[in-house]
Amino acid sequence: MKLSASLAAALASTALAAPTRFRTPPGIPSSSVAYTLLSELTVADPSNEDSYDRDLFPHWSTVEGSCNTREYVLQRDGDNVEVNDSCAAQSGTWYSPFDGATWTAASDVDIDHMVPLKNAWISGAASWSTSEREAYANDITGPALWAVTDEVNQEKSDRSPDSWKPPLTDFYCTYASAWIQVKSTWELSVTEAEYSALEDMLGTC
Ligand SMILES: *[C@@H]1O[C@H](CO)[C@@H](O)[C@H](O)[C@H]1NC(C)=O
Repeated sequence: MKLSASLAAALASTALAAPTRFRTPPGIPSSSVAYTLLSELTVADPSNEDSYDRDLFPHWSTVEGSCNTREYVLQRDGDNVEVNDSCAAQSGTWYSPFDGATWTAASDVDIDHMVPLKNAWISGAASWSTSEREAYANDITGPALWAVTDEVNQEKSDRSPDSWKPPLTDFYCTYASAWIQVKSTWELSVTEAEYSALEDMLGTC
């Protein structure tokens, strides 16, 4: 994961030219696609609430070499991230799109599951195999994992958009679009309250 000197210099000059630049996870749909995906989701009451256990979703798994999913996302979404031989970030800058804060220590940054593990459990994942749940908890193929301020992630906890929204209202559109994409990809249901909160948030796009 060592960058060549010329690539590092190119990245550094890009960062200087656009200091507020931040990266987002892949696969965030446009708002019009998000509306369509939302309308196709199954609306259902939550189920299996009593049997949830975080250990049912193994994470963080190894992505490549010594890097696990958390370390992978920190590198993907941070600027000028330098890691050591065990892939732990030693330096870098992370912009948290949920609240607009910027951090320079990876210890201040959590990797948020856009659709929290418990919410996935009560909306369909209870019937999956452990390996499917591991794939969900470590999903780097879509907008499932976000590098955000640790305290904001903790405040969100396992809540869905009908009871928790990110501090930045400017981010509602992207947040709802990403949430809907994850629910759609993984064929998870939404409650009626969640559906209407998502619809309201898409109304800000
Ligand atoms: C990498 O850094 C972490 C702390 O950030 C440390 O715990 C770990 O031992 C370091 N690994 C190596 C190979 O230096």
